[in-house]
Amino acid sequence: MLKLEFKVTPWDVEGMVDYDKLIEQFGTSPLTDELLERTARLTKSELPIYFRRRFFFSHRDYDKILEDYESGRGFFLYTGRGPSGPMHIGHIIPFYATKWLQEKFGVNLYIQITDDEKFLFKNLTLDETKRWAYENILDIIAVGFDPDKTFIFQDSEFTKIYEMALPIAKKINYSMAKAVFGFNEQSKIGMIFYPAIQAAPTFFERKRCLIPAAIDQDPYWRLQRDFAESLGYYKTAALHSKFVPPLTGLEGKMSASKPETAVYLTDDPEEAGKKIWRFALTGGQPTLKEQREKGGNPEKCVVFKWLEIFFEEDDKKLMERYHACKAGELTCGECKRYLIKKVQEFLKEHQKKRKEAEKKVEKFKYTGELAREQWERAIPEKLR
Ligand code: TYM
Repeated sequence: MLKLEFKVTPWDVEGMVDYDKLIEQFGTSPLTDELLERTARLTKSELPIYFRRRFFFSHRDYDKILEDYESGRGFFLYTGRGPSGPMHIGHIIPFYATKWLQEKFGVNLYIQITDDEKFLFKNLTLDETKRWAYENILDIIAVGFDPDKTFIFQDSEFTKIYEMALPIAKKINYSMAKAVFGFNEQSKIGMIFYPAIQAAPTFFERKRCLIPAAIDQDPYWRLQRDFAESLGYYKTAALHSKFVPPLTGLEGKMSASKPETAVYLTDDPEEAGKKIWRFALTGGQPTLKEQREKGGNPEKCVVFKWLEIFFEEDDKKLMERYHACKAGELTCGECKRYLIKKVQEFLKEHQKKRKEAEKKVEKFKYTGELAREQWERAIPEKLR
């Protein structure tokens, strides 16, 4: 059954999300052709598929980011990950988008790993969230960020974040936080403080901040935009993506806690293939005969969505597949096999880079140029 209602919060995505409605509900702006064309012009590059095909579909103040770049004022990037388990294909796409932006605009990037958040919000010990932080950082480094322009920090360790969160925590009263996040009498007091921690990195530089992330994180940015200027900083800008759907259907989002819905970045490629073969929902007809006669429905097919979002680079091939499916020339088995091959190639390459990342953690966290600068700013020389 298709649910007509949908819900998007930083913790939950349910139902069939209507992204146009979400733009209205959240009060964001659509990412227009004009903004994307300007991006292509300024970066002198072809846009990657997640922009070209509108997987990123909404923004706040991205036009001002481009103006800041054009005028030489510049900007910086910020994104993050809550380490509660292994990362899946959905989690990594905002990082690819961030990498593309860093490479093309040549700007600094801060990546927050919220082991504190996942300890407070999930049934996990701090040791567990710290262990996942390390594992997830390997996946993030594997994306290929510039080590001298990227600082990856873990909240439990980079405690300077607390000092930056303090003025923010003094600006947000309980009723504001409650209205945005739905806190209640049972909410732990750590949860209520936490939004100040996630907002703090938007103040790491006195330039405008651009946050690429899925739209579930937007409530934090909405709150930040309420008080940023009163503290002498810019309201943060954001680029919002949709959600990669679970293998099992187009509702909700791929969830790390339901293994049959997700392909994890650390899945053995053979096993990942089996999972896709077994669980991926397609838009096919019940019998081959009907498929040939009536054609399939790519709009309702997770396999097609995954190709569209990330795994089929070639626009022409994607359109040919769309029409061949509609015309009944393709079987779901053929499409699944094609996606499996693409996913397996991606996983093999990712896992090779992930292995190499083990040697790079130090640099991203402590010794890269930007990391060193941040730690030095954080702890006065005499206390180090
Ligand atoms: P987390 O770990 O839930 O998600 C990490 C990033 O992945 C995005 N995301 C998805 N994107 C596409 N499809 C999906 N199915 C999907 N599920 C999650 C999230 O939007 C996010 O971009 N509280 C944050 C950690 C954080 C953060 C940040 C995230 C701290 N500061 C700044 C983004 C930007 C969290 O738990 O993310």
